[in-house]
Amino acid sequence: MKILVTGGSGYIGSHTCVELLNAGHEITVVDNLSNSSEKSMEAVKKITGKDFTFHKCDILDYEALTKVFDENTFDAVIHFAGLKAVGESCEKPIEYYHNNMTGTFVLLRVMREHGVKNIVFSSSATVYGVPETVPIKEDAPLFTINPYGSTKLMLERVLSDVALADKDMSVVLLRYFNPIGAHESGLIGEDPNGIPNNLLPYVSQVAVGRLPKVNVYGNNYPTPDGTGVRDYIHVTDLALGHLKAVEKKANVPGVHIYNLGTGQGYSVLQIIDAFSKASGKEIPYVIAPNRPGDAAICYADATKAKEDLDWVAERGIEKMCQDAWNWQSKNPEGFK
Ligand code: NAD
Ligand code: UFG
Repeated sequence: MKILVTGGSGYIGSHTCVELLNAGHEITVVDNLSNSSEKSMEAVKKITGKDFTFHKCDILDYEALTKVFDENTFDAVIHFAGLKAVGESCEKPIEYYHNNMTGTFVLLRVMREHGVKNIVFSSSATVYGVPETVPIKEDAPLFTINPYGSTKLMLERVLSDVALADKDMSVVLLRYFNPIGAHESGLIGEDPNGIPNNLLPYVSQVAVGRLPKVNVYGNNYPTPDGTGVRDYIHVTDLALGHLKAVEKKANVPGVHIYNLGTGQGYSVLQIIDAFSKASGKEIPYVIAPNRPGDAAICYADATKAKEDLDWVAERGIEKMCQDAWNWQSKNPEGFK
């Protein structure tokens, strides 16, 4: 297939490019590089030995995006481009709504004008809000507690309405749990700007000596060790989920919704311990106040993706931590 990847130079996008190329698909990438480096694209070429075109292009720019579609014939779009930091979205809601919503509107308009009927969208477990029960199935109640999450939930609705209006349209909504790790080559990985918000990049920067200690946000949750439990998934497994989704659901009209997680929860302290073992480094931590809005426990029921897409996450927590450490220790400053 010929696939356009928006946001393809970012963390999940670059890993998905690798798996799409390895599977023999042709890709074109657009990214405005607002939260990534073009160096990831060179690394993807090195890993796969395959070439593709990268356009430094903002999906808000209708003319620029139209030019990319005019010059190519796409079978499908995998849409990663978006802003993703929960805290920043509370400080800059207008920027988040504009970038994520308007960017997707422009993309959908250009897709329609070029007769492209298949889209795979990066949604998130954030659409489940603070879940009442676990494991979470796709039909669990949906609500959001921050602007970032609201963009995901609203875009799920927009995309579903687009599929309703066009009987040939296939929309796949992939709700990711907590992606971590890196490609096993150590050539691509997560490279957050500034001090990381998410646990894994924070822990790995402590291990590599860039940060002094991990703040564990609360040890009074109703979990075995009192710290928050999440469903961490290796980014390569997540990338392979996109491959299955686009291969199995392109040209199958309708809305297809899948959780992509392992179905297994790990606590913050278990993650610190696993990372310490993988890296051979001591990881100092302190118990800090609970972070507002955090759920105690969140993990997926991923049986629908298994049954429908023939996809399961295969890489365990040790491999996730080993690969994250391999990337971090080889590239202590990320792509900089
Ligand atoms: P990322 O920031 O590494 O990748 C997103 C990419 O989109 C970046 O390269 C950025 O430069 C690009 N981008 C942003 N706005 C753009 C625009 N207007 N035009 C063109 N490019 C633009 O993030 P990621 O972790 O790879 O996430 C990819 C997608 O998955 C995002 O939509 C994110 O919301 C979603 N998601 C991420 C997580 C996670 O924990 N990483 C969890 C659930 C969902
Ligand atoms: N945590 C710490 N210290 C830190 C960072 C996190 O103790 O420095 C804890 C959190 O309290 C939570 C767990 O580690 O219990 C995981 O936190 P993350 O910030 O890594 O991930 P979240 O589950 O809060 O959120 C992530 C993404 C969201 C996405 C969600 C579900 O940031 O965008 O997963 O996919 F919506």
